[in-house]
Amino acid sequence: MNDYNNAMKIIASLYITLLILPIMAQAQDTNWQAPDAADTLQNQFTVNKEFVSLGKKTFKSNCTTCHGKKGKGNGPAAVALNPKPANLQSDRVQNESQSALFWKISTGRKGMPRWKSALSKKQLWAVVIYVKSLTKSKEELSSNN
Ligand code: HEC
Repeated sequence: MNDYNNAMKIIASLYITLLILPIMAQAQDTNWQAPDAADTLQNQFTVNKEFVSLGKKTFKSNCTTCHGKKGKGNGPAAVALNPKPANLQSDRVQNESQSALFWKISTGRKGMPRWKSALSKKQLWAVVIYVKSLTKSKEELSSNN
C-alpha cells in the first residue's frame, strides 16, 4: 500500500510539472529580460545630433518593416509575427536601461533578428539612442536610462 501511495505521489508531481512547464515557458515569452551581465555594456560614443541621425538612418533601413516608422510595433511585417514586434515607445521598453536594449538588439529572440554581426557597434549604440529619443529629452539620452 505504501509503495502504491509513493508511486501515486511521484506520478502526481510529474503530472503537475508537465502542466506547469508550458506556463513557465509562456511567461518567459512575454517577459524578455536581459541578463544582469548586460549592465556592463555602456555607450562609449558621444551623443550628439549626428549620432542620433545615424541611429535614425539605421532604424529606417533595418527596423521599420517590423516595428513601424515610429517604433510602435505596427510595421507591415508585424501581422505575420507571433510574438508581435514590441512597441518601442511603450513605458515597458522605454524604462529599460540602454545596456539592456543594446543587449537585446544585439542578441535577438524569435522573430527579432540578432543584429550583432549585421550592424557595427557604433550603429547598434546609435539605434539604442534613437529608440530612446522617441520619447526622451537630449539630457536623458546622455545617461544610461
Ligand atoms: C523581422 C522583424 C523585426 C525586425 C526587422 C526588427 N525587430 Fe525588433 N522585435 C521583433 C519582434 C518579433 C520582437 C519581440 C520578440 C520577443 O518578444 O520575443 C522584437 C523585440 C525588440 C526589442 C525588445 C523590446 C523588449 O524589451 O521587449 C527591441 C529593443 C527591438 N526589437 C528593437 C529592434 C531594432 C532596433 C531593430 C532594428 C535594428 C529591430 N528591432 C528589428 C521583430 C523585429
